[in-house]
Amino acid sequence: MRNFISLKDVENVQELVNEGIRQKKAPFAEQALGKNKTIGLIFFNQSLRTRLSTQKAAENLGMNVMIMNVGQDSWQLEMEDGVIMNGDKAEHVKEAAAVIGSYCNIIAVRAFAGLQDRAADYREIVMEKFRQYAGVPIVNLESATRHPCQSLADLITIEECKKVERPKVVLTWLPHFKPLPQAVANSFCEWVNQTDYEFVITHPQGYELAPEFAGNAPIIYDQNEALKGADFVYGKNWSSYTSYGQVLTQDPSWMITQEKMALTNNGLFMHCLPVRRNLKVTDWVLDNQSVVIQQAANRQWSAQAVLKHILKEL
Ligand code: CP
Repeated sequence: MRNFISLKDVENVQELVNEGIRQKKAPFAEQALGKNKTIGLIFFNQSLRTRLSTQKAAENLGMNVMIMNVGQDSWQLEMEDGVIMNGDKAEHVKEAAAVIGSYCNIIAVRAFAGLQDRAADYREIVMEKFRQYAGVPIVNLESATRHPCQSLADLITIEECKKVERPKVVLTWLPHFKPLPQAVANSFCEWVNQTDYEFVITHPQGYELAPEFAGNAPIIYDQNEALKGADFVYGKNWSSYTSYGQVLTQDPSWMITQEKMALTNNGLFMHCLPVRRNLKVTDWVLDNQSVVIQQAANRQWSAQAVLKHILKEL
């Protein structure tokens, strides 16, 4: 594997899931692989899990780790070509990515959607510029439209927890007052759609995800109906794709509660975190019927599986 920007970079998803599970069992078995190799973790946005789990994974593989918060630790970066740089952005990504690439063997980047311009966000400008100019492999730590390290950890978690061969997995929209990107939901759909799980999406009207991500998964607008018999309930808020970046409703009846979970097949609640308690999901669900901590812990092993595959090709 050269890059890990989207699912398209992965030859065999099941093998990558299995690799994550193997790394969890023997985290320090391949420390020689990353010896004298450096990864740069470049953050345009905040993070808890992604930052710590990727650093841990890289160090488990013997790598050196450098971390930079763009705009706080560094100059702000210009992404557009051909502009007169007379504003607040002092460095162009062309130089910045190339320079970081000269220090690193792998660069991992987090850059969220701006939610102002759908076409620009879905062109994945930041990820694409780093891929173009860095000269080294790029790992996506959540981009405008995808969060593949999260999705891999989600599949590892489902594989570990499933009680039936072909579980029913429901992606449900949750209420929130802020406009959030579609990246986690998009990516979850993209990854689950290539499994043989029974997969259903539920959200209010107007929250349809981009067709290239939702694929052929049935959309059920009645959340209670969708939850019936679910083995896994994956909760996430996202802003509208069609009315781009808009919050169309904050309907609290979409919050996941103990009563909603009673409709499931003793299902487990999943969320990528961070999660706002009692806005999106109740305390009771998080404290009694969720695997969110296991899911977050598995971020180490998804990152380690990805870095191992890239290191092997260097
Ligand atoms: N799930 C996730 O990516 O968490 P952070 O935003 O804290 O990294």
